[in-house]
Amino acid sequence: MSITPREDPLDLFREWYAEAGRLDLGEPTAVALATASASGRPSARMVLLKGAEADGFVFYTNLESRKGQDLQENPQAALLFHWHPLRRQIRIEGPVEPVSAAEADAYFASRQRDSQIGAWASSQSRPLPGRFALEKEVAATAVRFGFAAVPRPPFWSGYRLRHTYLEFWNHGAFRLHDRLVYHRQEGGWRTEWLYP
Ligand SMILES: Cc1cc2nc3c(=O)[nH]c(=O)nc-3n(C[C@H](O)[C@H](O)[C@H](O)COP(=O)(O)O)c2cc1C
Repeated sequence: MSITPREDPLDLFREWYAEAGRLDLGEPTAVALATASASGRPSARMVLLKGAEADGFVFYTNLESRKGQDLQENPQAALLFHWHPLRRQIRIEGPVEPVSAAEADAYFASRQRDSQIGAWASSQSRPLPGRFALEKEVAATAVRFGFAAVPRPPFWSGYRLRHTYLEFWNHGAFRLHDRLVYHRQEGGWRTEWLYP
């Protein structure tokens, strides 16, 4: 199957994403997120995609984590989806900015209570003296909020990657894959095909 270009890459993204969502993938929203420190040291990890709109691709995390630190000093990132059963990959790149407090509050409020407590309890990406330290934090947080609603921690929020570059890759026989690239430009998108 080759790639049918669309004028707006978001439409093509949505088609492929919906197809992936219909497969039994476990976490069809899982995406690799690559960031780099100010000195250019790259790192990658999985996150869950929580939004894909014209203004960008949204994910949530601890702002003091390694990725959060990277994005603070170097607000550029790349996302990579790979759906093996479809023989497809999508690469998305662009500048990253924080989502609004209201948006983060709304998403945080939709999470399960135990996940909300976990967000408070985890100093994500910092050294953990032992599993017990984390369990103690979880218990202390649960006691602290009792039966009250758990507010969003000030160090936990989301980012929006404003896509300026997307590449749609479709497997071809004998490694003669299709690669369709979209570059954002004034008032629209410029497309080109790349050699595989
Ligand atoms: C499938 C999957 C989904 C994940 N989703 C998230 C997520 O949405 N947000 C997040 O902070 N970490 C998520 N994680 C954990 C991250 O991969 C990572 O371990 C963590 O965010 C710390 O990364 P860092 O130290 O590079 O900041 C996910 C892990 C997996 C395997």
